[in-house]
Amino acid sequence: MIKTAIILGVTGQDGSHLAELLLEKKYKVIGVKRRSSTNTLCRLDKVVVNPDFSIVEGDVIDPSSINYLVNSYQPDELFNLSAQSHVHTSFQQPAYTFQVNTVGVLNILEAVRNYSPQTKVYQASTSELWGSNYTIAQDGSSNKYQDEDTHFAPNSPYAIAKLASHHLVRLYRDAYNLFACSGILHNHCGPRRGEEFVTRKITKWIGQFKYWKDNHPDAYFIFDKNDIYIKGRTQTNVSLEFPKLRLGNIDAVRDWSHAKDMVRGMWMMLQQEKPKDYVLCSGIGHSVREFLDISFSYIGIKDWSEYVVIDPCLYRPCEVEFLQGKYNLAKKELGWEPEISFKELVKEMVDYDIKISTIVVDKKIV
Ligand code: NAP
Ligand code: GDD
Repeated sequence: MIKTAIILGVTGQDGSHLAELLLEKKYKVIGVKRRSSTNTLCRLDKVVVNPDFSIVEGDVIDPSSINYLVNSYQPDELFNLSAQSHVHTSFQQPAYTFQVNTVGVLNILEAVRNYSPQTKVYQASTSELWGSNYTIAQDGSSNKYQDEDTHFAPNSPYAIAKLASHHLVRLYRDAYNLFACSGILHNHCGPRRGEEFVTRKITKWIGQFKYWKDNHPDAYFIFDKNDIYIKGRTQTNVSLEFPKLRLGNIDAVRDWSHAKDMVRGMWMMLQQEKPKDYVLCSGIGHSVREFLDISFSYIGIKDWSEYVVIDPCLYRPCEVEFLQGKYNLAKKELGWEPEISFKELVKEMVDYDIKISTIVVDKKIV
């Protein structure tokens, strides 16, 4: 039997990978995009031509649109990947973040309860739910980690909104017997990662810097720690400038995986007989510094400190310093394990950003 799935948030990083996976599995996929004055389908190049894929408009904060879609399609599975997903932005737009990340989820659960109660629902929960909390291993190693038993202590409007929706999913499962579950996913990325998240911000900068440097073979560079520009001077007395990479807290530790591995796990959760929440992660934490070490090394730079400026504006009012997960339950019950290593992930992102970088070089005559 051909299954139908609705993906909310299909234009995002995970939504685009999930659409590809479900089409490979011969689903009929309905991707929901919100109205926009610009084209937001750029991540969907591979699927828009597929006759089993269609795009419809809808917005999770508009219950009528969600009711209509759920009622019309009666999907076998619904994946809610939509969100205001940027943690820093949630401090600046907390009410909007709650609208999308909490009220939006309530709208979806109500639509399923009222119009299509047989639909299986996946909700995108997050390792941000743990905030600064972690469990200490009792095996003598004193390792710190977060898993399904670690208590939540959210540290941002984003995380608090996501925790409310995490509990709503549990409530609708218990109260109304819906097949609804949450994947508590640690940070994941890849070449389709939004450019304002730290990993992509770094690899995009590297790609553009390499392009700039390679197109000025005569240039040598002058660094000034107080300066926001890398200055290159050519023999023809032309001075070139390239903005340094501005970052916030580079000591934060995250457990980064590839988004492709994660969407496979999301799908597996909905193939279970009973709904349950699972943690997905790589199990290994890395600091932003380590990400810088590896990514800069791919363009032959060992000491990146000259190229990076720490900008206090990029610090969050409240930070989550350490996230490192354990995926034992997902491995045992779903048979899920990540397949793409951290090094492969970083290399793929750097390679991609080098390939696509064709910026116009900022040239100044002095
Ligand atoms: P993303 O790239 O930011 O994508 C978010 C998607 O939500 C986009 O398609 C966006 O549409 C859509 N959206 C935003 N507001 C909407 C609204 N009001 N109605 C309908 N759609 C709306 O995020 P992602 O990295 O793919 O993450 C997917 C989900 O997993 C999110 O819920 C995120 O919070 C959660 N999560 C992500 C990670 C991670 O590390 N990536 C980890 C844990 C959990 P536009 O294209 O129009 O903006
Ligand atoms: N975005 C960003 N930009 N983060 C920076 C920067 C910067 O310039 N400099 C340092 N960081 C630090 C942040 O303070 C944070 O500690 C870490 O890098 C990761 O930040 P993000 O890449 O923005 O991701 P995130 O971990 O806050 O949130 C992502 O992962 C969550 C799951 O753990 C998002 O995808 C969330 O939607 C997701 O729930």
